[in-house]
Amino acid sequence: MSSSKLLLELKKSAGTVPELVLPLGNPVEALLRPIATDVDKINKTDVRLLSEWRNRFVKSFLTEFHSHDERTTSWLVQSVAEDPGKIMFMIDTLDGISIGHVGLGFINWQTGYVEADAIVRGRNARKGLMKEALQLLLRWADASLGLNDAWVRVRSDNSAVMFYQKVGFVEQKRIPLSKRISNDSCIWFEDNDAEENAPALVYMKYMHS
Ligand SMILES: CC(C)(COP(=O)(O)OP(=O)(O)OC[C@H]1O[C@@H](n2cnc3c(N)ncnc32)[C@H](O)[C@@H]1OP(=O)(O)O)[C@@H](O)C(=O)NCCC(=O)NCCS
Repeated sequence: MSSSKLLLELKKSAGTVPELVLPLGNPVEALLRPIATDVDKINKTDVRLLSEWRNRFVKSFLTEFHSHDERTTSWLVQSVAEDPGKIMFMIDTLDGISIGHVGLGFINWQTGYVEADAIVRGRNARKGLMKEALQLLLRWADASLGLNDAWVRVRSDNSAVMFYQKVGFVEQKRIPLSKRISNDSCIWFEDNDAEENAPALVYMKYMHS
């Protein structure tokens, strides 16, 4: 099976009992579980947490909007499920409490390009757990999917830039951002004519350890 097919199948088969989990830590401390995207298998708790955390960290992302369960469900069922270059994992403790999520996006199956996507800690966790969860995901993407050119794009006004440095990403370039405000959202886009003090989009490349 090709790697892109594997990703689609993983999303489709993910449900109450996922087909695959990535164990984190030795001894195992948490599990990375693919978030279900099939309309019949959607996990309502995942949806509620995704919406709640998206609202809590609204300014961390390029598109700012108010999230709610219905919107999150359609995004999972339509956008994430159908996108061959995207998958998200919940990070669950061994007693089943979800503490955050990590994802892969913008995959180019020809070149091996991948981006760390939707990295959020929503509950208290041991310091370093999010770093290790993302490193595990990137190792899996490299070893199992052949995605060895990993990047992240992050707003310069998000202190997560320093988190990504600790994970092993190194800044390559910055592009200024401008924002477009519509009825219910604010979208940041790359704009070389942006205002002088505007935030930028920081491109960081992962240096595999
Ligand atoms: C970014 C985020 C996932 C980091 O979670 P976390 O639980 O703090 O991460 P970790 O404990 O694994 O941190 C790993 C290292 O990064 C450092 N770090 C994490 N966040 C940091 C920050 N905001 N500023 C400076 N350093 C930071 C930690 O101190 C730790 O350093 P150490 O290795 O020297 O101990 C979390 O802050 C979050 O969910 N932010 C909101 C969502 C967001 O902005 N996501 C990124 C969107 S692009």
